[in-house]
Formats: sequence, structure tokens, C-alpha cells
Amino acid sequence: MSKKILNVGMLGCGFMGRTHSNAYCQVNHFFNTPYQPVLKACYGREEDQEALKKFQEMWGYESVETDWKTLINRKDIDIVDVVSPNFLHKEMVLEAAKAGKKIICEKPLAMSYAEAEEMVKAVEKAGVPNMVSFNYRRVPAISLIKQIVDEGRIGRPFHYRAVYLQDYTISQKVPSGGAALWRLSAKIAGSGVTGDLLAHSIDTAEWINGPIAKVSAYTEVFIKERRNSDTGEMEKITIDDACMFLAVFQNGSMGTFESSRYARGRKNYSTLEINGELGAAFFNLEEPEYIEFFRYADPKTGQKIEDHLTGWQKILVTNGEHPYMKNYWVPGTTIGYEHTFINGLADFLFSLDGGAKFSPDVKQAARTQKVCDAVIQSAKEQRWIELS
Ligand SMILES: NC(=O)c1ccc[n+]([C@@H]2O[C@H](COP(=O)([O-])OP(=O)(O)OC[C@H]3O[C@@H](n4cnc5c(N)ncnc54)[C@H](O)[C@@H]3O)[C@@H](O)[C@H]2O)c1
Repeated sequence: MSKKILNVGMLGCGFMGRTHSNAYCQVNHFFNTPYQPVLKACYGREEDQEALKKFQEMWGYESVETDWKTLINRKDIDIVDVVSPNFLHKEMVLEAAKAGKKIICEKPLAMSYAEAEEMVKAVEKAGVPNMVSFNYRRVPAISLIKQIVDEGRIGRPFHYRAVYLQDYTISQKVPSGGAALWRLSAKIAGSGVTGDLLAHSIDTAEWINGPIAKVSAYTEVFIKERRNSDTGEMEKITIDDACMFLAVFQNGSMGTFESSRYARGRKNYSTLEINGELGAAFFNLEEPEYIEFFRYADPKTGQKIEDHLTGWQKILVTNGEHPYMKNYWVPGTTIGYEHTFINGLADFLFSLDGGAKFSPDVKQAARTQKVCDAVIQSAKEQRWIELS
């Protein structure tokens, strides 16, 4: 099959610039998509020229730009990939929509729900295909939990529990601003762990367990001042370092969500568990090739399965019948973090050519933003916030 060329403009050259570039390079090695991505141009700030040059050489971009508007409006760019800090997402997506480009945007979609709504309007008006990179949905084991829930194997859900923990900001010496640490500045990141980490947990939770009806949150800022590495000045820290919230889902189940960058020992520890009448499932990102599943009753009859093997089963999610896995190696061999981006890109490219509609798009990601905003508002006002 001859493939259609898809010229990529990458707006950022950091961590996500690398994961997305890798996905474009790898996607057709594993999925026979209708498109051939070409790494046409990448953008970095004036002050990031050294990093940009290295990025261009390592991934093979044909050219570089130091002005993102120029890059977006180049006639030879088909798809704009927004992998910049959060405060730039809105302007970049609006410009890309105006230019009629296909859009991929990193999470969180925006700094606030108001921004997200503006982005949805612009993208829908332009009618351009779009995707938001909530890549954890595409961990095969998490996709398998979604399948198990949809098959009725959990039954009526009672509890949903999500945890997302890191520990890299514990020292007072960690500055705010600059590469990766822009996450500590409210004007660049919007929120702290809520938008950065819990947005993933919320997206996955609503995908698996349906919409959240209301939330009650508590947030904490443990270190209230840091030196900003861009300005050299001390900066007041207002983003949430840690956040816990209670949720009630529309289906009547209860949720707890916890996230922190102060959980000593935890690097990128993300778990979810759902407990229902007929069964339960658990996932831990530190063992991403496994799920644990507790089968209590037959989903067809609702009757307890009477045998002596009842208990948690640890299932290695590497068989051809498991989500995405037939595209990789043989059963028993594992894939990793980078493959979640490859799986997402493959689904998106197929959706451009008559395949299943891609999810989440900006509209669905705006919903996640709405929940994030409700969490922050709840913590501020110390009360439950209802979500429409
Ligand atoms: N899907 C995921 O799991 C995941 C993981 C990490 C980050 N992200 C998201 O991806 C986006 C980019 O994050 P990242 O980890 O790649 O960041 P990064 O710091 O590694 O890279 C950011 C890039 O943006 C550019 N930039 C422009 N203005 C900047 C500014 N004022 N400060 C710093 N850099 C600036 C830099 O040149 C750099 O190339 C964010 O929206 C983040 O939330 C998503």
C-alpha cells in the first residue's frame, strides 16, 4: 500500500518531543497505517538552541524554527504536534486550527476549563482532526481493564481508587522554571499535580468508570518559595504539590484520588483499582505488563463461581488477543512506556482514514480539564463541587 505523506511540525524539543518523535519513527514498523510521517521541522526557544540542534540531529528533523507561528503556518506542514509547556497549548492549538492543520496536543489540554472551551470551539469550527495525548489509556494492560469492565466482568462498581506519586521536588534546592521544572510555576503550568498527574488518572477513571458527578479536594504546598532558574529571583509557589480528592461517580460508585511529588521513594508510581459486585481489577504502572483480576461471579449469570481457585490472578498482558499486543513480539515478551505513544499515534492515523473515531479528542480532554478545575476550586473553597 502506498502511504500518504504526513509532514510533522513538532512544537517543543524536550521529554514529550522525544516520545512523540519516536512514535512517528516507529509507528509503521508495528502498525501498517495509511500515512508515512516525515519529521519536517521542530521548534525550540532562542535560549534552547543547543538542545534544539541536538534534538534535530538525533531524530533527523529536516529543519528548525525558533518562531512557532512560522512553523505552524509553513505550507509544507500537515500536522502540528504541541509538546510545549501548558501555558502555550491554547495559543498554539488556536493557531494550528486557524491554519487548518491536523493537531496533536499534550495533556493537560489547557491551563483552565475556560481556555479548553475556547480551544474546542476553534478546533470544531476549523473541523480539523485532533488528538490529546492521554497515553496511559494505551497501556495494553489498562486497555484490558477497560475491556473487562465493558464485558460486565466487574459488575456494579462500588469503588475506584487512583494513586499517582513522584518524589522529585522534595528538596528546597529544586528551582522553579526552566527545563521540566516549569511545572512548579503557576503561570507556566496552571496547576501542580492536579493538571500534571491527576489529569491522567481522571481521564483513565472516566474512560473506565464513567463521568464523575462531584468532588471534594484538599491540596497542599509544602515548599512555598523557590528560586526561579529563568529569572534568578525567589518566586512564590502557588501550584499544588500534593492533592487528594474524593469523588462520586454518576454510576453511584465512590472514588479516591491521591497525587504528590513528595512521596519519598516513588518515581512514577501510578495505580488504579476498581472493585465491583462480580469482580475487581488492579493496575500498577511499575509493572505495566500485568493486571491483577479477581473473578468472583460469572458475568452472564451473576452466580458466584464455585471452585477452590477463587483469588487474585496476576495476568501477563502480552498475548496476541490482548489490546495492541499482536502488533509487537511473541507472547511473553514485553513492551514499554514508549509504546503507549506509538499505540496512540497508530489509532489516530487509522482514524484519519476511515478508522474508528479517535478518543480522547480536545472535547473529551476539555471534560478532564473541567474535573481538574473543580478539584482545584473544591480545595480552595473547602466544599464539594458538583460537575454538570
Ligand atoms: N503524556 C504524558 O505522559 C506527559 C509526560 C510529560 C509531559 N507531558 C506534557 O507535555 C508537555 C511538555 O512537557 P515536557 O515534559 O516535554 O517538557 P520539557 O521541559 O521537557 O520540554 C518543553 C519544551 O518546550 C519548550 N519551551 C517553550 N517555552 C518554554 C518555557 N517557558 N519553559 C520551558 N520550556 C519551554 C522548550 O524548548 C522545550 O523544548 C506538557 O504539557 C506536559 O504536561 C505529558
